Amino acid sequence: MAILVTGGAGYIGSHTVVELQNAGYDVVVLDNLSNASEKSLERVEKITGKKVTFYKADILDREASEEIFSKEQITAVIHFAGLKAVGESVQKPWEYYNNNIAGTLTLLDVMRKHNVKNIIFSSSSTVYGTPEQIPVTEETPKGECTNPYGWTKSMLEQILMDVQKADSEWNVILLRYFNPIGAHKSGTIGENPNGIPNNLMPYITQVAVGRLKELGVFGNDYPTPDGTCIRDYIHVLDLADGHVKALKKIEENAGLCIYNLGTGNGYSVLEVIKNFEEATGIKIPYSIKPRREGDIPANYANAEKAYNEIGWKARYGIREMCEDSWRWQSQNPNGYED
Ligand code: NAD
Ligand code: UD1
Repeated sequence: MAILVTGGAGYIGSHTVVELQNAGYDVVVLDNLSNASEKSLERVEKITGKKVTFYKADILDREASEEIFSKEQITAVIHFAGLKAVGESVQKPWEYYNNNIAGTLTLLDVMRKHNVKNIIFSSSSTVYGTPEQIPVTEETPKGECTNPYGWTKSMLEQILMDVQKADSEWNVILLRYFNPIGAHKSGTIGENPNGIPNNLMPYITQVAVGRLKELGVFGNDYPTPDGTCIRDYIHVLDLADGHVKALKKIEENAGLCIYNLGTGNGYSVLEVIKNFEEATGIKIPYSIKPRREGDIPANYANAEKAYNEIGWKARYGIREMCEDSWRWQSQNPNGYED
């Protein structure tokens, strides 16, 4: 009996594999390593002292998936595999729709053939578009996405809901992540973006480690207290824990469930910089730049539903997220490269 983790060598996947193994699950990872290094899994094994069964495979490759489901006793799938760079998705929409949507459709087909009808899917707060009211609850209507990446999440949610509706043997949990940051306490696994980071925290840590000169703050004229955008940053270890709790819910034959995974607290860009500086003692040089297209002024979660239904609540605050992001970056200035 094992849990298949697609995209398990990636940032959130590798942290979730640690939590799953610590909770006593056997884990099989499928990853094509398009945005990850196998070293992450070697380090996971060091942290947990347990073996990870790894298949270098693509979710688009039906035969490779068939082989995994034939060989391994898979009971549920945690589905992280996907492309996630917002800007790149605007340049390469076909690649994003093909990889994320066709890839997931292929995976679902293989799953049902092997009678594995339990799936936890990595969705995003991006599906809310520009919400009329914050904090957003799971009842907040979904909105217009500003990019193909966001649409793949929104569409895949719909596909998974329809699959579950048509066949009640399916258990589908959609987890809408807010802004994952932080790293494992060991400092040995963490976020390892390709090229220049698009997201705030990896940009800050690369400035701190000297790989980048200064941070650009995208806009300080938003209708927020200090003029910079507000987001709900969440520790990746809390996200990982959310998946283990969601798995327990699946084991109760939950049907369809949707949960926000956020802390419920919003921090502005300037507040994140300040917390990082206080947590690490390192000054982050920054300058104000024009607004970034597609950014919304503020978004944060109401995560009470996850607490009420699966007993999940974020444990870590912004200070610890900054400390842990920095421990990873400072110990691994070039990520998984030597
Ligand atoms: P990541 O890029 O580190 O992990 C994704 C993994 O999937 C990578 O290891 C990559 O090699 C693999 N992959 C991609 N396409 C594949 C394919 N066709 N077949 C097999 N493997 C494939 O990203 P992450 O930050 O760990 O995100 C994990 C999931 O969570 C993604 O689906 C992402 O869209 C979603 N998500 C992430 C965030 C975030 O801010 N990091 C926010 C919301 C949702
Ligand atoms: C972005 C994506 C979202 C995706 C999420 C996780 C957009 C519009 N949204 O969310 O779809 O799910 O990443 O991958 O891209 N910032 C700076 N300077 C920087 C980087 C960011 O000021 O160099 C600001 C941004 O303007 C934003 C905040 O920091 O206000 C957080 O940005 P980011 O980490 O990219 O996350 P989101 O934009 O919330």
